[in-house]
Amino acid sequence: MHSAGSVSDKSAVSLRGITKRYGETLALDSISLEIGANQTVALLGPNGAGKTTLLHILCTILTPDSGSAELAGIDLLRHPMKARKHLGVVFQEPSLDDRLSVYENLDFHGLVYQVPWRTRRKRIDEVLDLVELSEWRNEIVRSLSAGMKRRLEIARALMHESRVILLDEPTVGLDVQSRARIWQYLEELRRTRELTVIVTTHYIEEVEGFDQIFIIDKGSVIAQGTPDFLKKSHGQQLLRFTPRDDRAEAEILELYPNITRIHSGQLLLQSADPETIDGFLHQFGTRVRHLDVDSASLESVFIALTGRELRDKPADGKEKAPTAGNRDSKLAR
Ligand SMILES: Nc1ncnc2c1ncn2[C@@H]1O[C@H](COP(=O)(O)OP(=O)(O)OP(=O)(O)O)[C@@H](O)[C@H]1O
Ligand SMILES: [Mg+2]
Repeated sequence: MHSAGSVSDKSAVSLRGITKRYGETLALDSISLEIGANQTVALLGPNGAGKTTLLHILCTILTPDSGSAELAGIDLLRHPMKARKHLGVVFQEPSLDDRLSVYENLDFHGLVYQVPWRTRRKRIDEVLDLVELSEWRNEIVRSLSAGMKRRLEIARALMHESRVILLDEPTVGLDVQSRARIWQYLEELRRTRELTVIVTTHYIEEVEGFDQIFIIDKGSVIAQGTPDFLKKSHGQQLLRFTPRDDRAEAEILELYPNITRIHSGQLLLQSADPETIDGFLHQFGTRVRHLDVDSASLESVFIALTGRELRDKPADGKEKAPTAGNRDSKLAR
């Protein structure tokens, strides 16, 4: 495993040898990781990598088959209820009660977490202000847009004194504006209170400013570090293209056996050496279409390490439908 970066001395999350199977499927294969306090961290991985399973273990709704886990110094397996007090969660699947109002959803959550009513009232005002939903406080959740519901779920995760907040695909299926707003809140929180933020996302560009990235594939952490470290150590130049005809494709594949097929007839040439790309373009530049060069981005790191793109794409080249937060097609305000 490759590792580097800025883990602070105080640990917010510490996992050792966490393994989880669902029948024959090995979802997590002895994962160990440390996340420092006050860090913003992303778990990146293709569909089925094990990200949600890992978050479910961290939020104590799932028990691992083996291994140990600590959150804010508390043993998660022995004292799950104690750990939950420090934990805010935004699940991949929407989990608001949409028959209740915005206010009622927050108040009920505070009640479950035994936040005294005076504090609850104060905190509801604060979190609604943070996610700009104050004027919607008496609205029934069903009538909110997808973006507003997602922001409300973030507000709810902040109702109690959480030291760690877990967000599973908080922005999937949202429009660009709502996505930007969600990251803005998280950034604001990080500046104003002691909080470790752990996020999974399929939007790789969203994690450029993060402290640490863990790349997860097939239930294992295959690389970790700051975005810069990962780019320096695994960044490659990527060249995506479509051959103009079958003959061009056959010749290209014969000369460049390492080329991989991605989606909708596109091929991918990856190389750490810029001269390889130059040589290819010189030779085949006029016989390919849809040419796209990508230099040492986080996406190229991801492809170099996993051999896959972050978002599964079927043969028609369209993205796979997001799995959460998008059932309501109304645009965010
Ligand atoms: N309840 C379950 N029962 C059986 N298999 C499961 C269950 N939950 C997850 N799996 C399997 O475990 C593996 C890891 O799934 P997980 O949902 O953790 O992945 P993920 O990284 O969150 O994927 P995605 O990006 O699609 O959300 C997959 O092979 C998945 O099919
Ligand atoms: Mg998931």
